[in-house]
Amino acid sequence: MDHFSPKASDDPLHGATPPAGTPARNGAVDGPSHARTVAIVGAGPGDPDLLTLRALRLMQRADVVIHDRLIGPDILDFARPGAERVFVGKAKGRHTVPQDGINALMAARARAGQRVVRLKGGDPFIFGRGGEEVEYLIRRGIAVDVVPGVTAAAGCAAAAGIPLTHRDHASAVTFVTGHGREGALDVDFSGLASARRTLVIYMGVSTAATMARRLIEDGMDPAMPAAVVENGTRADQKVVTGTVAELETMVAANAITGPAVIIIGAVVRQAEVPALTGLAAAAA
Ligand SMILES: C[S@@+](CC[C@H](N)C(=O)[O-])C[C@H]1O[C@@H](n2cnc3c(N)ncnc32)[C@H](O)[C@@H]1O
Repeated sequence: MDHFSPKASDDPLHGATPPAGTPARNGAVDGPSHARTVAIVGAGPGDPDLLTLRALRLMQRADVVIHDRLIGPDILDFARPGAERVFVGKAKGRHTVPQDGINALMAARARAGQRVVRLKGGDPFIFGRGGEEVEYLIRRGIAVDVVPGVTAAAGCAAAAGIPLTHRDHASAVTFVTGHGREGALDVDFSGLASARRTLVIYMGVSTAATMARRLIEDGMDPAMPAAVVENGTRADQKVVTGTVAELETMVAANAITGPAVIIIGAVVRQAEVPALTGLAAAAA
């Protein structure tokens, strides 16, 4: 038995672009003018081994893969060889293709009957604008299937040996963004400083100092362990550990510039960090 065969009922791309004149299930003639489902697919944090089987299968059947900046060639190479690859990546402050353009592109390709995979880093619904893209497509009558991916917090934590929850140290975990819609911090700090919570900050490298100061002002112990995981799960992964009070220095002294998450909480003490450790590493 082939466990990986798609079921027609759950495959968003099943039957896309059938031969002209193929009767659809409702008896009407189905053709390329019929808008298809767009698959919004999470590609995980970078290690291709963390792709889901469903992501892989959809990529191998796609006509077009519309992808972000953080999707590396080692993942894109899993796409069907003839599939078109469209880069719509966003670098901070510079949008290669504005969100409106990405939305319109997905809709146009789906309406043209193409098998569309919108490939996004991590999980599409965690700081990935997946919600906005789904809303746009649904409003235009285009069905959407969302395929979850390993989010950066989970991937980086596992790669650094940091359990995000632990019965002895953390009974809650919170994901926050260090980069609001207009670039400024857009975080409700209430309760974030609590001792038994793990905090994972996405897109927080440039606001690390402000975040740390606010957390300490709100009662967090300045000696609370913190880790910065850059390029987590990739060959060039860097893990730096220290304390929340040292965050700004950890980022600057270790030249953290790539995509990074900041993990704050007692669980960081469990980190299996091979060589680099915060200020000690920077001083070495
Ligand atoms: C626009 S958000 C997208 C998050 C994504 N949807 C997810 O679920 O992981 C981009 C941020 O995710 C984090 N990130 C993504 N991949 C990462 C990686 N391999 N290592 C560390 N952080 C990563 C960084 O904080 C980066 O600035």
